[in-house]
Amino acid sequence: MISPVLLLFSSLLCHVATAGRTCPKPEELPFATVTPLKLAYDPGEQIVYSCQPGYVSRGGMRRFTCPLSGIWPINTLKCTPRVCPFAGILPNGAVRYSTFEYPSTISFACNTGFYLNGTKSARCTEEGKWSPDLPVCAPVNCPPPPTPKFAVLSISKSLATNSSFSIDSALYGYKAVFKCLPHYAMFGNESITCTEHGNWTELPECREVKCPFPSRPNNGFVNYPAKEALYYQDKATYGCHEKYVLDGPQEVECTKFGNWSAQPSCKASCSVSVKKATVIFEGERVKIQEKFKNGMLHGQKVSFFCKNKEKKCSYTEDAECIDGTLEIPKCFKEHSSLAFWKTDASDVKPC
Ligand SMILES: *[C@@H]1O[C@H](CO)[C@@H](O)[C@H](O)[C@H]1NC(C)=O
Ligand SMILES: *[C@@H]1O[C@H](CO)[C@@H](O)[C@H](O)[C@H]1NC(C)=O
Ligand SMILES: *[C@@H]1O[C@H](CO)[C@@H](O)[C@H](O)[C@H]1NC(C)=O
Ligand SMILES: *[C@@H]1O[C@H](CO)[C@@H](O)[C@H](O)[C@H]1NC(C)=O
Ligand SMILES: *[C@@H]1O[C@H](CO)[C@@H](O)[C@H](O)[C@H]1NC(C)=O
Repeated sequence: MISPVLLLFSSLLCHVATAGRTCPKPEELPFATVTPLKLAYDPGEQIVYSCQPGYVSRGGMRRFTCPLSGIWPINTLKCTPRVCPFAGILPNGAVRYSTFEYPSTISFACNTGFYLNGTKSARCTEEGKWSPDLPVCAPVNCPPPPTPKFAVLSISKSLATNSSFSIDSALYGYKAVFKCLPHYAMFGNESITCTEHGNWTELPECREVKCPFPSRPNNGFVNYPAKEALYYQDKATYGCHEKYVLDGPQEVECTKFGNWSAQPSCKASCSVSVKKATVIFEGERVKIQEKFKNGMLHGQKVSFFCKNKEKKCSYTEDAECIDGTLEIPKCFKEHSSLAFWKTDASDVKPC
């Protein structure tokens, strides 16, 4: 037999259960998920908040039961992003970042002379680790430099420290200088440098260069080594017979272009047709008939005095001995030696 009291009690319980209000869809929290997620929950039903991957809970309840009131309790759960290890410093390079939190990405660059061994960027993963692994900036290396044909290595130096180095391990900025073998001329830059790309700048070339035998100048001579051929940097010397002057350098050299650095010639001296005149030679007044009684050499210059009749003053005009010819200025008037009363232009006041 069932007690009426019990009956009443159980019907009351039943009434309470059906009279409780349902809970609504729970409040959404940033970076959290709710399970199970429904539009409505009966009183007594449980939900669990959990942080999304990459986020961790900080304080607050995670598990709730829908109360008879149908109102979810206030939720103080906070999901915050995971933080990856500090990665703000890259030796010999730089890191670009705004935060180290999930899901940020940071990027890397190396200083000149270093290269990135690894990737340009890394991402903070859900597990709070950098992926891929952080790179390093490794020093740029050049392979041992090739030596050009017909050349020898003369210097190998580090530009930064000015110290010589073993050419087997050339770092960025290292420099090697080459010299061509005798008779060979260099085309291109004699030095090569290990670049930031890990290669060398362009190699020079050494080519054998011959020059033709120099020809003897008229009224002169040329000396050169008695060999079957003349090569790059061989030298020849020139000279002239008496009364002739060398026009050009005394010594010439076989250039890398296979010609001689100059082609000197011998120039004749000038006989002076004027019998008597005061002229300026190398800044001094001289008597032309005495100073140049053996003639003027090619290239020598004098200044003749001329008269300006209207103004009764004198001025000078230049004359140069050019390969046997001295042109006397037209304004110069030579007085007959009998005309002793006439004043020579060189004695008239200058204009
Ligand atoms: C580059 O990185 C790889 C992998 O981390 C490593 O094995 C290698 O030694 C590094 N090279 C240099 C030059 O640092
Ligand atoms: C490097 O050394 C050479 C001689 O050994 C010297 O003439 C030159 O000035 C030095 N350069 C620097 C940058 O120290
Ligand atoms: C050779 O190259 C160096 C740098 O590598 C440069 O400073 C120099 O001016 C170059 N010389 C010539 C003749 O081009
Ligand atoms: C060196 O490498 C860089 C980059 O790969 C290239 O642009 C350059 O032409 C190379 N230099 C030489 C001399 O090969
Ligand atoms: C030698 O040859 C080079 C190249 O052809 C030319 O530029 C130069 O002027 C020549 N030199 C002489 C002295 O003729």
